[in-house]
Amino acid sequence: MKGLILSGGEGTRLRPLTHTRAKQLVPIANKPVLFYGIEDMAAAGITDIAIVVGDTHQEIRDAVGDGSRFGVSVTYIRQRAPLGLAHCVLIARDFLGDDCFVMYLGDNMLEQGLAEFVESFEKSREQTPSLMGDAGPSRAQILLTPVDNPSSFGVAEIGPDGDVVNLVEKPTDPPSNLALVGVYIFDSCIHDAVAAIEPSARGELEITDAIDWLIQNGSRVRHQLLEGWWIDTGKKDPLLECNRLVLDTVARRVDGAVDDASKVEGRVVVSEGAKIVKSTIRGPAVIGANTRIENTFIGPYTSIGDECVITDAELDHSVVLEGCCIDGTNRITDSLIGQHVQVTRSPERRQASRLMLGDHSNLELG
Ligand code: DAU
Repeated sequence: MKGLILSGGEGTRLRPLTHTRAKQLVPIANKPVLFYGIEDMAAAGITDIAIVVGDTHQEIRDAVGDGSRFGVSVTYIRQRAPLGLAHCVLIARDFLGDDCFVMYLGDNMLEQGLAEFVESFEKSREQTPSLMGDAGPSRAQILLTPVDNPSSFGVAEIGPDGDVVNLVEKPTDPPSNLALVGVYIFDSCIHDAVAAIEPSARGELEITDAIDWLIQNGSRVRHQLLEGWWIDTGKKDPLLECNRLVLDTVARRVDGAVDDASKVEGRVVVSEGAKIVKSTIRGPAVIGANTRIENTFIGPYTSIGDECVITDAELDHSVVLEGCCIDGTNRITDSLIGQHVQVTRSPERRQASRLMLGDHSNLELG
């Protein structure tokens, strides 16, 4: 079994962060989203992985390298334009050969691991032919979960025997409330399917159409229902929610320095080289390496990146990326702050705010 992680695409919904940064590298509890997917694959025994990359390819290569620190081998496949998830399979043909593979959307995060998902697909293909019925072995397996807004996803319809009978991408009139979660398993039949389909109305080769092509051409497609949470981290609020869920699982570790006038309460990680001075950190929270927090309150569900300086401030339920300087501000909450951002308060405390914001910034002044 090989792995294919999709990390191309444009990340328009996380602008301005994704003007300069791959959306798959935005951190959750100070670790890039993409790393969780690679670690899940490694834990399921998948060690031969290709990552499809787009314009942000260099940044992803710099972050992931050859995969050895995850115990896997990583090959990069360059996609010139985001032409769709099935296009990614098309350009990965040489890497995939005739092997079965797990395809994983690089900006998705799942609570459940991949091992059981892979095992159940493999078991289903080991059955004796008489038990498989006329359609033969399963050619694909998808993961589904009920959602309130199926029109925003790929949607599946399940037949009486539990096989998938119909799939549609972002339908206006959804046939069910079962959305496709961003994890799939395919055998080599998918290559015929991605070669046969046409681009959708949004101009993409949809993997949903390719799987539907398999079904309409007589192949069996299995499904499993998702256990635990799943988040597509491509927008701010789901990303903060994901950060909250992951911070709830971190173990307390204080490697940095905490002075006597400070309190570090509950599940908090204070990374190596960080300094907490006259401050309170109320967990769950993570403070990055070499970050200085002074005269500040950091409330629950907050991740502060490496090399930040935060003074005379109050922050909670927020993600702050590396190299930021926040000084003397009112309470900051529900916020996502990109790399090397400066948020300060004018010494004269005048009523007017003075801003220098990047394109597509989003500011809600309190
Ligand atoms: O999140 C689950 C949904 O993901 C499924 O329910 C849909 O059926 C599926 O089509 C997909 O929909 P999205 O519109 O959310 O996909 P998005 O464009 O966000 O791309 C998902 C990931 O794949 C993201 O990490 C970027 C990457 N990608 C995307 C495209 C279109 C590529 O690497 N290349 C591409 O051409």
